[in-house]
Amino acid sequence: MNLSTTFTGVRFDNPFLLSSAPPTESESNITRAFEAGWGGVVTKTIGLHPVVNVVGPKTQFLRADANSARLSMKKRPAAALHSSWNWELISDKTLDWWVPRIGRIKRAFPDKVLVASIMAGSGSDSELRHWQALALACQEQGSDALELNLSCPHMDRPDMGSNVGRDKELVSIVTRAVKDVAKIPVWAKLTPSTTDIVLEARGAFLGGADAISSSNTFTSLPLIDPDTLEFEINVDGLVSTGGLGGPAILPLSLAKMSQMTQAFPENSFSGIGGISTFDHALNYFLLGCGTVQVCTAAMLDHAVGPNVIRELKQGLACFLEKNAARGWTSVSDFVGIRRDRVVAQAKVRRPTDRDYRGGYETEGYASADDAPAAERSA
Ligand SMILES: Cc1cc2nc3c(=O)[nH]c(=O)nc-3n(C[C@H](O)[C@H](O)[C@H](O)COP(=O)(O)O)c2cc1C
Repeated sequence: MNLSTTFTGVRFDNPFLLSSAPPTESESNITRAFEAGWGGVVTKTIGLHPVVNVVGPKTQFLRADANSARLSMKKRPAAALHSSWNWELISDKTLDWWVPRIGRIKRAFPDKVLVASIMAGSGSDSELRHWQALALACQEQGSDALELNLSCPHMDRPDMGSNVGRDKELVSIVTRAVKDVAKIPVWAKLTPSTTDIVLEARGAFLGGADAISSSNTFTSLPLIDPDTLEFEINVDGLVSTGGLGGPAILPLSLAKMSQMTQAFPENSFSGIGGISTFDHALNYFLLGCGTVQVCTAAMLDHAVGPNVIRELKQGLACFLEKNAARGWTSVSDFVGIRRDRVVAQAKVRRPTDRDYRGGYETEGYASADDAPAAERSA
């Protein structure tokens, strides 16, 4: 069955991508990913300067027991995946390492989509030129699109990663700088760790973004082991904030996505966060995403997710077959059809005729004067 779709003007043989992360950190992984059937990949984020990661594991998986409330990264039988936690920086390979590999991969897989994820600082004009240098180098090698990492949750610098993504002006400025030199579509990957993501999304679109990718991981800490009193992941007892991904973030990421697709119904979105099956991906499509991306589930499935992509493609094929009578032949036929079902509380029917007014009127509430004195003074 034809699962193809067009997103930001780029043709995909299916709408499923590996997101920027360990599954796309090397030429061999990306090659395996394309052979396994992924429609596209977003490379591990490429920067101008080499980074050095912490000693020890960069990612761990938090699991939940079926018969108790225990949550732990410790390996044990019959525990279900709750989330991934990572504090891995961007690619530890330089641009010079990536450039020939991007070219080779594109020549070997001309029909697959290769999106280059890039990141630089944004505190000065010369740093903005770094974004442009990265964009031009990846574009020249045949990348199909660029994804701006405005969302890595563990950068110390205030002008990098999610610190940029929390600042609508910087989001706009960086996007515009890249758009000034890009001939290929530019996607802005925003952080979910912000108060009102619609503001940053508007900044990205004002800067000329062709699409928004969301979510990156949520800013978070690993749990403390109650026996050792140490964080379950630490180096010499120390930890810094990192990012939560996987099943735990699916509903959180959907809420962020729904805010953006409602605010910008005509724009393009690539949904990320907690996807491991077609049923998960379907949520993003129905809320208004034209493609989706996967990380945690792929990391746990032979590093590049061969079984995950098989299920996603089969799931989409079955879904299209089941809904053939509606005339649906591709993802674009059902993108966004549940976008407007998310409404303000006051719009949801009440059991009686008496209106609820979203708390704007005293009707239905005790007035402040009726509250017990202790509560009033609290
Ligand atoms: C170990 C690890 C490394 C990651 N590195 C990057 C990165 O370099 N650039 C980026 O944009 N996102 C990075 N991400 C975020 C993922 O691309 C993705 O947005 C996030 O994990 C949510 O998707 P998931 O729930 O499918 O894991 C990383 C995630 C993990 C777990």
